This record gives sequence, structure tokens and C-alpha cells, in this order.
Amino acid sequence: MPDNRQWIMVKKPEGLASEEHLELKTRPTDEPGSGEVLIEQLYLSLDPGQNFYMQSSADVGGGTMKVGDVVRAWGVGRVIASKSGRYPVGSYVRDRYGFAGMQDYTILPESSLYPVDPALAPFPAQIGVLGMPGLTAYFGMIDIGRPQAGETAVVSGAAGVVGTTAGQLAQVKGARAVGIAGGPDKCRYMVQEIGFDACVDYRAEDFEEQLAAACPNGIDVFFDNVAGKILDSCLSKMAYRGRIVSCGAIAEYGTVGQWRGLHNYWNVLVGSLRWEGLSIHNYYDRYDEAYAALEGWFREGRLRHREEVADGLENFIPVFHRLFTGANLGKLVLKIRDEAVA
Ligand SMILES: NC(=O)c1ccc[n+]([C@@H]2O[C@H](COP(=O)([O-])OP(=O)(O)OC[C@H]3O[C@@H](n4cnc5c(N)ncnc54)[C@H](OP(=O)(O)O)[C@@H]3O)[C@@H](O)[C@H]2O)c1
Repeated sequence: MPDNRQWIMVKKPEGLASEEHLELKTRPTDEPGSGEVLIEQLYLSLDPGQNFYMQSSADVGGGTMKVGDVVRAWGVGRVIASKSGRYPVGSYVRDRYGFAGMQDYTILPESSLYPVDPALAPFPAQIGVLGMPGLTAYFGMIDIGRPQAGETAVVSGAAGVVGTTAGQLAQVKGARAVGIAGGPDKCRYMVQEIGFDACVDYRAEDFEEQLAAACPNGIDVFFDNVAGKILDSCLSKMAYRGRIVSCGAIAEYGTVGQWRGLHNYWNVLVGSLRWEGLSIHNYYDRYDEAYAALEGWFREGRLRHREEVADGLENFIPVFHRLFTGANLGKLVLKIRDEAVA
């Protein structure tokens, strides 16, 4: 069995996890048990939520991360040893629940895997638009946001994989998709390459005016990935009986206990708004429905996507930090090894 490099949380972070909280350690790889497979990881997903798993003391999504644990991560890889009837050696798989971990190899039970068809999409997209972030967009937009034809859906953090997918799902349902992203280049990309109906630059001085102009009838669905000031601005522009999907709070991660208050909270009441928090971990029993729907729209060419691939497990920390500065454009993934190397 090969040696396994693993990113271990050695100290719980209060803000953004960095060198003092994480160590790359090498351990021997175990043999898979009955119903399990040993996977060599090809690509691992970098998600803002990984910091949340490390920071949080609550049970989020199947377990609190404790000191000594491998950093949680979603991944796609190839089975190299199998005691599973469903996934023989050579199968490509992705994990459903984020326990592949930041490591070279992982052992997972067959019940936590989903088959990957390499012909459908490149591997990085299989853990992006077709993976956990795609499922997040699906349940948040389709289930909670419920956009109707002719409505306006606004998505913050729009240039990220969840936002990009969520806006396109609103369009699949006949709604207008308005993105909020940082800078004119990202906004141009959202409209010209992804096909959003409009995109508003939250860093621009006239952000409020731009947002109002893009949503002349107000916001029917607000899919929020960011929280903070952007959430407050959108709250003030919600249409009557609008829906807010709280999916993420990337502007507030790393500021535990110091979250900003909201000035426009009153609009929840006067607008008869519905506001619901989303946790992907609440939907395990419906993952297959979402995978099938996303793959269907993907085959029809209705889900545009982009990935940014960085190299090497050892580079996890600096690459991870790019998520929090908006430095990435598209789904950020870490390439662990070449697909062709057995
Ligand atoms: N609830 C759930 O179950 C669940 C599951 C998965 C993900 N999430 C959440 O969904 C959100 C998006 O995830 P993702 O995978 O799409 O992330 P991503 O690909 O890293 O994109 C995040 C986007 O947020 C923007 N951003 C970063 N810092 C910001 C700030 N301070 N203010 C405003 N915008 C900022 C960045 O672009 P700009 O250049 O535009 O700033 C970036 O495009 C995250 O908050 C994540 O935690 C929730």
C-alpha cells in the first residue's frame, strides 16, 4: 500500500485556517474493508465551507472536525483496490458527503460514492457544476427559491461555482438572472460567457443604483452566498412575497462573533418575505434526483461552467486562501495526480 500525505488540522482556527492550524503529514495507507474501496484522488475541490467545517464546534454535515482529523474535502478519483461489488478497480467515483479529505488516497464505503462518467465532463467539472456545489445550487434555487417565469433572481457571489449554477437554474425556470460580482471583468464574464441577463459590480461606488436598475420590479428570489452589506442592499429591494435563500456568508467567514447587523431587516415583515437557510447536508435522500437533473441540463448545454485548476496537494493553503479574496475565476480545484498515472 502506498504512503498517504494528509492535511491534518492541528489547531482549530478562529478565522481563516493557515499554516499554524494545518500540517501535511505522511501515514501508511490502509486496506479497504468489506464494502469499501481505496481511491487514488485525481482532483480535490476547494470550497469556502471547508473553513466552516474547521472553525465550527457544532455538528455540521456529519461531524465536527476535531484536532487530528484530515481536512474535509470533496474529490474525484479512481478505485485502485476494491471490496465493493458496485465499484471495481478502475472505476471513477466522486464522494457524496465531503469525506474524501485533503489527502492523496482515501478509503470510502460504496454507499458514500457516486459513479463518474469521464465522457460526460472533465473531472474538475464533476466536482464543480456536477458535484456538491451544483447540488447546492439545485436545492437552493429550485427547492427554496422556486423562481417562476418572468421573475427576477439575484445571486451574490455570482462568479463562484454555486452562484454561476444557481443563476442558470433560475434561467432554466424562465426567470431573469442578475449576478452580483466583484469588478467589471467578472461582471462582463458573467453576462458574456455565462449568459446572465445582467451583473452588478458590488465594488462600484454606484452599486445600489446599478442593482436597482437591473431589478426594476424588485427581487423575487435572492440567492445569497455572501451576507454582510450585499445582503442588506438586496433586502431593501425585495419584491412582495420574495424568497431569500441563505446559502453562504463568505464576506463574514473568519469574523466569528463580529458579524455585521442588518439595517433593512424590517422589509422581511413588510414584504411578507420567506427566508430560509440551506444546508446541503439536509438533502442526502434527494441527491440522486439532483445529480440526474443537473446531468440532464448539462447534456443540453444549459449549464455553462469554468474551472481553475491549481497543482499539488502540498499547495493547499495558499490556493485555498484565493477563495477568500475573489482571486479565482471559476471553480477552484487542486490537481493531485495525472489522470493517466496508475
Ligand atoms: N449551504 C450550503 O450547504 C453550502 C454548500 C456549498 C457552498 N456554500 C456556500 O456557497 C458560497 C459560494 O461557494 P462557491 O463554492 O461558489 O465559492 P467560490 O467558487 O469560491 O465563489 C465565491 C465567490 O464569492 C466572492 N467573494 C469572496 N469574498 C467575498 C466578499 N468578501 N464579498 C463578496 N463576495 C466575495 C468571490 O468573487 P468576487 O470577486 O465576486 O468577490 C467568489 O467568486 C460560499 O459562501 C459557500 O460557503 C454553502
